[in-house]
Amino acid sequence: MTMKRARVAVLLAGCLAAVLAFADGSILPPPPGAGATANAALVELGRDLFFDEALSADGRVSCASCHRPEHAFADPRPVSLGVANQRGTRNAPSIINRAYGRRFFWDGRAQTLEQQAEGPLTHPAEMGLSPRQAVATVAANPRYREAFQSHFGAQSPTFAQVTQALAAYERALVSPSPFHRWLLRKQPLTDDVERGRVLFFGKARCHLCHSGMHLTTEEFLSVGAGAGHGAQDGGRFDITMRPEDWRLFKTPSLTNVARTAPYMHDGSLATLAEVVDFYDRGGDIAENKDYRVIPLALTSHEKRDLLAFLNALTTDPLPAHLLKPSTHQPR
Ligand code: HEC
Ligand code: HEC
Repeated sequence: MTMKRARVAVLLAGCLAAVLAFADGSILPPPPGAGATANAALVELGRDLFFDEALSADGRVSCASCHRPEHAFADPRPVSLGVANQRGTRNAPSIINRAYGRRFFWDGRAQTLEQQAEGPLTHPAEMGLSPRQAVATVAANPRYREAFQSHFGAQSPTFAQVTQALAAYERALVSPSPFHRWLLRKQPLTDDVERGRVLFFGKARCHLCHSGMHLTTEEFLSVGAGAGHGAQDGGRFDITMRPEDWRLFKTPSLTNVARTAPYMHDGSLATLAEVVDFYDRGGDIAENKDYRVIPLALTSHEKRDLLAFLNALTTDPLPAHLLKPSTHQPR
């Protein structure tokens, strides 16, 4: 074989390996925006920022304080605690597969993950930094400074670049569930899960709002939840100021829902069984409630099958290197 032929052969083998790696690595399509920014170094930088408590006014709160890897990156507390132990008003959702989303926060006030990340960094009750303080904190760490410099080529990082790194990391947090494998015709569901799926898309009416690859239309509406602590929350209204948006919340994705208790925007339902009972009785608050939420008259067997389906929305474990920061973090 000539040198040239040998090189072509190596190149072809490389391409084939890349195609196989994609086919094997994830059956999900890459999320929007992941192509250009899916740079391994940027993802790792974003990961280290995500876990770094230095990025907060009291040095004790990181993104991971409220989005905990061991809870599918959600918060097991009904509402989160930010800097100086300030209580938030809403439950922190999972961010696995959120890279496929189009609206972020329960009221949909951010359209991109970059824009979203500005929120917690600067919220006085969450991480409590000004954009300038956030950049100064990052620039004070030689390893971060070097990483930003080698990726973006500038002397000092900008706030926009900090949010880009965080978003690049979040776009790497994608993983399929048994439901996805069924949807893509890769694997059948077990019998109880299949019965639950038929209920979800039929008698239980869940699909009227929870549909598509990630089981959400991201529509704003009220299912009549939040009779407890959430009663003062204006929801979508606080963003649009339109009276018809009073107490409407974004339909959440149900990916990993078995791992993200408690539930609803205010964390007012403790278990998935409580959620199923809630829908079975047609919601709690009548005011503003969507016409599609009605009593369901589910039997106890049907409730069990529906729960089995919700459990099949749990994604495969993410690679270990995405679940913790690098060990050589200079302080
Ligand atoms: C103090 C707790 C806390 C911290 C710190 C925090 N979050 Fe959150 N996060 C929340 C809560 C609560 C919500 C829902 C808030 C809302 O809807 O108004 C949320 C929402 C989100 C969402 C939107 C999810 C969706 O489906 O709409 C993303 C993405 C997210 N956070 C990423 C981050 C990133 C990145 C950081 C670090 C820069 C971070 N969070 C820091 C509590 C926190
Ligand atoms: C009319 C639209 C609609 C229907 C029908 C519907 N949902 Fe929802 N679902 C929503 C909205 C909106 C929320 C957020 C409500 C809130 O926080 O106030 C939600 C929240 C949830 C949550 C909480 C998720 C979380 O992370 O906190 C679960 C679980 C859930 N729904 C499951 C179901 C199941 C199971 C069914 C069928 C029995 C169903 N939904 C029917 C729109 C709907």
